[in-house]
Amino acid sequence: MNETGSRDNVRTLEHYLQGTAPEIVKVYLAIAQSALRLSDELPFHTGMTGGVNPSGDQQAQLDIFSNDLFCDSLLASGVVGQVASEEMEQPRESGPLREHGLSVAMDPLDGSSNIATNNPLGSIFGIWRGPLPQPGRSLLASLFVTYGPTLTLTLTAGKKVAQFVAVRSGPHRGSYVLANDGMVLPDTPEVYGIGGERGKWTPRVEAFVQTLEKRGMKLRYGGTFIGDFNQVLKRGGLFAYPELTNKPHGKLRVLYESAPVGFLAELAGGASSDGRRSLLEVEPRALAETSPCYVGSRGLLRELQSAFVRA
Ligand code: F6P
Repeated sequence: MNETGSRDNVRTLEHYLQGTAPEIVKVYLAIAQSALRLSDELPFHTGMTGGVNPSGDQQAQLDIFSNDLFCDSLLASGVVGQVASEEMEQPRESGPLREHGLSVAMDPLDGSSNIATNNPLGSIFGIWRGPLPQPGRSLLASLFVTYGPTLTLTLTAGKKVAQFVAVRSGPHRGSYVLANDGMVLPDTPEVYGIGGERGKWTPRVEAFVQTLEKRGMKLRYGGTFIGDFNQVLKRGGLFAYPELTNKPHGKLRVLYESAPVGFLAELAGGASSDGRRSLLEVEPRALAETSPCYVGSRGLLRELQSAFVRA
């Protein structure tokens, strides 16, 4: 459970966060506790609501449950003034903190189409100061949760990236322990996963993917951004939800999904791009604005941007 996989000498999340800004710690701990609760509740909210979210995606019961769970705990933390979510038209706010408190943008349940098939799910959070929307370059911190064979938290407060795993039994039951500190996204690319229907990729996306296939990289696509990105973080490579001929701005939402993950990828030594510049440079004008999303090994992203300019 520690970095060598042993149950001895573990370092808990609370211990690790000593020295991190107290406001950010409160946000992280609120998310960490709610993620444990959500993980326990996953089997009990498996249906669809019949409604759609502001982006037009079908809403699952778990989308609503997770949205309310995280919103309530973030606003109760006493440091968050605004929570914007992929599942809500308007942010929820705590009046006095709106202007100068922390703001959190979240995808409370990433990959909801995987609920029915028991494939990985995630939650994504970006933390800014002051009202949203704001660009990724102003992020203070970001965190993602994976609900897979294990429940993990991967976070950064703007310096290094660390991953924690939830402990479900034994003396540390109910806590998160450090599994990986100072994570480095490998520059030698091994895996790739590209979203969207292949027939709708633009010609320059199709051409670039062919170069990945020719160099022997392995296709790994599970349909949850967080699950797919997590393997790129560990193994090196590329995750993309690219520009499509019928959706030139892709599918992933800048605030709720791609900027928080891009921030974390860049701090782990990787790179992010909208095809032209870092995802952190994208200035969203609306909360649910989308952009093409490419994230992964730094050298590969450099190649992608050059290939796109030449195409
Ligand atoms: O949030 C959108 C999302 O569920 C991502 O987690 C995932 O990468 C993508 O959609 C999958 O989309 P598609 O089904 O089009 O491949």
